[in-house]
Amino acid sequence: MKKTFLNLGKQPIANGFLYKEQIKDEYYFRLKMAFDKETALVTQVNYVDGDLMFNDDYAYRGSMSKTMVKHFKTFSKTISSNKNILEIGSNDGVFLKNFSPKKAIAVEPCGNFAKETQDMGYTTYHSFWDVPLAKKIVKENGKQDIVFAANCICHIPDLDSVFKAVEHVLNEDGTFIFEDPSLAGMINNNSYDQIYDEHPHIFSVIALDNILKRNGLQVVKVENLKVHGGSNRIYAKRIGSKVHDSVYQNKEYEKVLGLNKFKTFKRFAKKVKQSKKDLRRILKKCKKLNKKVISYGATSKSTTIFNYCNIGPDLIDYITDTTPEKQGKLSPGMHIPIISPEEGFNDTVDFAYLGAWNFVDEIIKKEEEYVNRGGKFITHVPLVKIT
Ligand code: TYD
Repeated sequence: MKKTFLNLGKQPIANGFLYKEQIKDEYYFRLKMAFDKETALVTQVNYVDGDLMFNDDYAYRGSMSKTMVKHFKTFSKTISSNKNILEIGSNDGVFLKNFSPKKAIAVEPCGNFAKETQDMGYTTYHSFWDVPLAKKIVKENGKQDIVFAANCICHIPDLDSVFKAVEHVLNEDGTFIFEDPSLAGMINNNSYDQIYDEHPHIFSVIALDNILKRNGLQVVKVENLKVHGGSNRIYAKRIGSKVHDSVYQNKEYEKVLGLNKFKTFKRFAKKVKQSKKDLRRILKKCKKLNKKVISYGATSKSTTIFNYCNIGPDLIDYITDTTPEKQGKLSPGMHIPIISPEEGFNDTVDFAYLGAWNFVDEIIKKEEEYVNRGGKFITHVPLVKIT
């Protein structure tokens, strides 16, 4: 049974960057988060239809951050080259390109990216991940040693179907490895912007293990990662496999944080409300003092922030982003213009709100000149502050 704990109001498609002419047809939904008592899963009350988010115009490109390119390259080295691998949600091939096309298969529902990995030589299934697709893949390619997914499984509402399909495609000793932002990270950072249409769930190890187990799999190892503000890399195998200490340790830590209790999320919801007040106060003050405030990184996360906190072009002049697909468009819902950093990140900027706070180290290193001349960043993570 789902119990609602947070209402983030009316929200648009988080990655739905749009042109002015498209505003009249913009889609909105009510974004509410709940706790499922049976599995301890933190999940949305109503899910948004996948086709509205993952289609041929999908704008998120994994290789836009050096941090992520390096992250996947480093991890790929831990996988033996004689294993065959299937990636669910392969995006622009940021992970897969570290493997030979002879050994790797891509699954991607967004047509623009499915074409890219196909052109790179990878057998690519342009489709959502489900049991019929898993059966088709096994028929055409045999069972797989490794199924990998990064920032993708938490995008799929029906987890039972996802895990059943994985269980079908894996060979007897196969491993399912997937990474997503962690619930512990979200609670510790007060990063409620991890919640948006594409993230119907924010995972704890406790909840994942509960749901994997009813589908023939179990968590056998957990790695805590720094990326995306704190993620977990989950290794799952068939029930009965050896379980690493990290699983017990992570579950114990999550219990200490109260991630298995509803009241923890009620407390979190209060902190979210306060964060909204604090962020609006800082931005309004900057405006009053005639300072120029922009936003750095047109992220899905900032779609949640701007719409929930009612922050539009009145408070943020524009957003800079390196992704060509986002430039020249408006941000979803609040319609703040997006331009390239070359055009917009210059010495007229006084404050930059960190939409991409999860890449703060990479950004501060890159923007040394801005920092040296006294430019400031604003963040809401873990508390609203100017840095
Ligand atoms: P990310 O935080 O992964 O976004 P999401 O919330 O959608 O998952 O994406 C970071 C965005 O910020 C992406 O659009 C690229 C952009 N970006 C910059 O513009 N400059 C930078 O230096 C970095 C690291 C990212």
